[in-house]
Amino acid sequence: MTGIAQHTGAGTETEGLVARHRDVMMRSAPRPLAVMDHGEGAWIVDVEGRRYLDFLGGIAVNSLGYAHPVFVRTVAEQAARMAHVSNYFASRAQIDLAERLTRISGAGESGRVYYGNSGAEAIEAAFKLARLTRRRRVLALQSGFHGRTMGSLSLTGKPALRADFEPLVPGVEHIDSTLDALEQAMGDDVAALVVEPIKGEAGVLPLPAGYLEGARRITAEHGALLIIDEIQTGAGRTGAWFAFQHDGIVPDAIALAKGIGGGFPIGALVTFGAASDLFAAGQHGSTFGGNPLATATADAVLAEIERAGLVENAERRGRELVEKMAAISGGAIAEVRGRGLLIGVGLSGPSAQAVATRALELGLIVNAANESTLRLAPPLIIGDEEVQAFIDLLTRALEAA
Ligand SMILES: Cc1ncc(COP(=O)(O)O)c(C=O)c1O
Repeated sequence: MTGIAQHTGAGTETEGLVARHRDVMMRSAPRPLAVMDHGEGAWIVDVEGRRYLDFLGGIAVNSLGYAHPVFVRTVAEQAARMAHVSNYFASRAQIDLAERLTRISGAGESGRVYYGNSGAEAIEAAFKLARLTRRRRVLALQSGFHGRTMGSLSLTGKPALRADFEPLVPGVEHIDSTLDALEQAMGDDVAALVVEPIKGEAGVLPLPAGYLEGARRITAEHGALLIIDEIQTGAGRTGAWFAFQHDGIVPDAIALAKGIGGGFPIGALVTFGAASDLFAAGQHGSTFGGNPLATATADAVLAEIERAGLVENAERRGRELVEKMAAISGGAIAEVRGRGLLIGVGLSGPSAQAVATRALELGLIVNAANESTLRLAPPLIIGDEEVQAFIDLLTRALEAA
């Protein structure tokens, strides 16, 4: 959670809770910016009663916003029926969700689904899938982010995050995000290429136009898997169910988490075609993976995204936000990147951190993905009111920074 500015106007209850947090939480946890209490729609309220418009969406997680009736009802009903069962047994919910994921991803009848509980676990499963090709080398992109467990960190191309934890899992090479670099690195000993369609943590950096199409061709020529990390871009956020679908390609696997659960922890790996035959019985698993509570909730969240047309809404509201930000005067916004409701706002002038600080004070949550980029990943449910409130608050934050 680096990147959101420290809230300075803490009241008594916040101060007490922040002190207790400092004394009990592992030092890896950053100092909290506020202590949150409850939310509704795109708004969240802290323990002092201050309201914030959440345009980070729990970092691309709260697809339906806070306390959506479908989410609340599904969690309550499924918890009352059966929250967990060992994976010696199946449940309707895990089958329903797997069928939905293979349908909306286009993996179809040859698609298969593995469940974990987070993005990192979805990536771990993808990494093990790559190893099952019996090839040693795995390619990933510089500045890409895939998680913080040892396997997913090995794929993450951010040296600062990796340095303290070497040696990491061997066999991973980080390359430039160009097709030339991929051509050069590729060989018949490469198991897989792992990529994010838009590098979210690096600052909402889309891959170059044509990259995924080229990567599909090059990986296929060498019999390597193309594994797409859709953890931040998936669940409709970019205006398609999954970002790779904008490019008309078919990957071998996609890693999912965040927005598919709408706030309930879940991760998944969906394989396509022949990649679905790589795992054999007993080669991977997780106690909680695919539990009825998580899978029923994710299935209901995705059903609601479909019913309410939120994939289309992401595309429409994203376009509106880009247009309205272009009309903000003052010249602080140099560039707007991304797709749908995963947006990077490139600033020229005030630092992203300074703007995020001012925004938080004014009641707007955005985050500084890097020194000069604000990241926006609001809930997919936002409408006219939230778009206008965001523009007003951002304008004031830019003026104050
Ligand atoms: C693209 C991407 N991959 C993987 C992860 C790791 O997911 P998690 O934090 O759920 O382990 C993230 C989290 O930010 C992410 O954005």
